[in-house]
Amino acid sequence: MNPDQRTVLDRTRAFVRERFEGESSGHDWWHIDRVCRTAVAIGREERVDLHVVELAALLHDVADWKFHDGDEEIGPRTAGSWLRSLGVDDETVAHVSDIVRDISFKGAGTPTPMRTREGDVVQDADRLDGLGAIGIARAFAYGGYRGHPLHDPDLEPFFARSSAEYMTHRGSTINHFSERILLHAERMNTETGRRIARERHEFMERFLDRFHAEWEGRE
Ligand code: NI
Repeated sequence: MNPDQRTVLDRTRAFVRERFEGESSGHDWWHIDRVCRTAVAIGREERVDLHVVELAALLHDVADWKFHDGDEEIGPRTAGSWLRSLGVDDETVAHVSDIVRDISFKGAGTPTPMRTREGDVVQDADRLDGLGAIGIARAFAYGGYRGHPLHDPDLEPFFARSSAEYMTHRGSTINHFSERILLHAERMNTETGRRIARERHEFMERFLDRFHAEWEGRE
């Protein structure tokens, strides 16, 4: 069986949507949908394989390791067996699974280089969704889910040296911006990603300035 690419994408879209609908930690279906659209837009500019990009974007959070007791293989395994069940060729299955495996961000001290240009594109799209107005909205949604305060002026920003430290750390959402999100803007893989990140980053800096001004009664 050699299914056509449109069918594979449509069925994968339905599979992922069903899994993610109703997720409330900021990794919901619409996050996946946005990452998909951004990844395809970047991929077009960067001239990479858009079919792999779209499949990997759809599946990139399919079993996010943060929610599965640190089992980092569950994502690529789920993605791989799903694609194989559709009759997708081995090369594509391996490529998409590798991207899913490599994509999770594990804290400031643990860089995660991607192996292919397609991986670079999907990782950029995923990180871009943590920047700008949507990034701000998602950060507070995630903070609420984890029970973190919006802001605590007594807490210093914290840069994790390992993924274990990153996972157990409890901080404020505002500190989370400088610990993680602002790092993303510096870590884009592609020229297109960097350009979009720069704008979104500037918007977040403006938001933070305004937030602190209001907090301190200066505004
Ligand atoms: Ni994601």
